[in-house]
Amino acid sequence: MSSAKPFYITTAIDYANGKPHLGHAYEKVLTDTIARFRRMSGEPVHFLTGLDEHGQKVQQTAEKLGLTPQENCDRVAVDFRQLLVDLDISNDDFIRTTEPRHKAVVQKYLQQLFDAGLIYRADYTGFYSVRQEQFVLEKEKLENGAWPEIYGEVTQVTESAYFFRLKNYKDWLIGHLEANPEWIYPAFRRNQVLEFLKEDINDLCISRPKARLSWGIELPFDREFVTYVWFDALVNYVSAVEGKGLWPADAHVIGKDILVPPHAVYWPCMLKALGLELPKKLVVHGWWGMGGAKISKSTGGGGSILDNAQLYGTDAFRYYLIREMVVGNDADFNPDQLAIRYRADLGNTLGNLLNRLLSIAGKNTAGLVPAAALAGDEKDAALRALWAATAPAYLDTAMGYRFHEALDTLWVFVRAMNAYIDERAPWKLAKSTEPADREKLEATLAHLAEGLRLVAVAIAPIMPTIAKRLHECLGLEAPATFAGNFEWSGVTAGKTLAASAILFPPVVTPEEAAAAEAAKAAATAPKPAKQPKGEKK
Ligand code: ME8
Ligand code: MG
Repeated sequence: MSSAKPFYITTAIDYANGKPHLGHAYEKVLTDTIARFRRMSGEPVHFLTGLDEHGQKVQQTAEKLGLTPQENCDRVAVDFRQLLVDLDISNDDFIRTTEPRHKAVVQKYLQQLFDAGLIYRADYTGFYSVRQEQFVLEKEKLENGAWPEIYGEVTQVTESAYFFRLKNYKDWLIGHLEANPEWIYPAFRRNQVLEFLKEDINDLCISRPKARLSWGIELPFDREFVTYVWFDALVNYVSAVEGKGLWPADAHVIGKDILVPPHAVYWPCMLKALGLELPKKLVVHGWWGMGGAKISKSTGGGGSILDNAQLYGTDAFRYYLIREMVVGNDADFNPDQLAIRYRADLGNTLGNLLNRLLSIAGKNTAGLVPAAALAGDEKDAALRALWAATAPAYLDTAMGYRFHEALDTLWVFVRAMNAYIDERAPWKLAKSTEPADREKLEATLAHLAEGLRLVAVAIAPIMPTIAKRLHECLGLEAPATFAGNFEWSGVTAGKTLAASAILFPPVVTPEEAAAAEAAKAAATAPKPAKQPKGEKK
């Protein structure tokens, strides 16, 4: 057992009032990729995800369905847990905010802050958005006097409420942000927080009267109230690891919509007030959209996108998400681009490379990898040198959350191996009777096997199953760490390769199937009297 504190990483906890969508799926895959990179770097990891089960929307959704809120949460939890299975997510824990372990910690912290005078009661009049579960400011009204669409129905309410003395921590928080420019990734998002803090901030309302919202955690010092959604939800990150020595978190992975103010303002101030350490980093990803619109529950359409994990396979879907989105920026989900990446990057480049190796070795060395991975001529040396440059660049960019760049770099190497086969033309070498040609052929096979092994190690955090299968094809077992496995070696020498393998089988998309069906129907339909011009008779 390692004595180092595990790298503790979290996702946001998803609202339990609908089906999982692409945004949820991506965040899980991104966090899982980071977790797997860390594990392969030799760090113990603790990976938490879960569900945010309280609040007005959850209560309302349940009412509409004729269920109790808990019944509805239990139903939704099944879908979100299944998502983790479908996406091969390696989380260690799954927290639900309706669990006793969470409620107890929320109440403990509420009481602690109340006793310290950091939570107080006051009257408040304001405009409240049910959809966003937050008070909104009059200045946010549009020119025509209406509220922005995202707020849904907005009503004026006056009520007694409890407030957390957020204002007390403003200057301290600015100091923290200024002293820690790397606290938020990507760095440009820090400015957004500092902008927000330039204006006066209000103390944070942390309660709702039970009369208006019953589905929440009771304030321990006033049973007529429940906690407001963010005080409840944010605490999951500590309640889930209470007593485990895992706090502070090393990274909270979240979307850009919940950075300011919840994660970059409320949360650090709450922790400061509680005397707890701050998370080491906030990793903030952008939004997936489709045709320009954000994908969400309310806009719909997100669900069927997840069917692509079945269509293309979990690993290929993960690859697409990680390759396509620059962490921090928005990305557009494009089914055509997914098909292109599957066929070009995966099938025709990586899959084909493996097929070429297996076929050449099958024909010439009875599937055995020759022991020549460190010898050879300048072309072999060049391939090894390319790997020597690729490996550190790959790890540096990946550990810095620039996965798209890491994969880009890796694929330069994969394509270089395909080009190396073309140049070497092993099918010609095989026909020659010159001993030098036989040597070249063997060096080629050895270099291909070793190069593919290294690619298999590299992709393991993103495509864990493909990495395993690639290793199996090479007669090896996938290793648990990069260390000792990420340098050019001779470990593939003497191994027996698989006879054949199809890592990325051909996929027919539903659109293509429909088009083929239509074409077939057109072909078998009775011929029209007039033939279109140019058609063969
Ligand atoms: O915000 N693209 O839950 P949530 C990328 N319960 N990411 C997206 C996305 C999209 N189109 N849509 C949503 C909540 N997300 C709170 C969090 S944490 C203590 C409480 C991301 O279900 C979103 O940015 O609305 C967030 O990180 C996560 O999905 C859950 O969103
Ligand atoms: Mg949301």
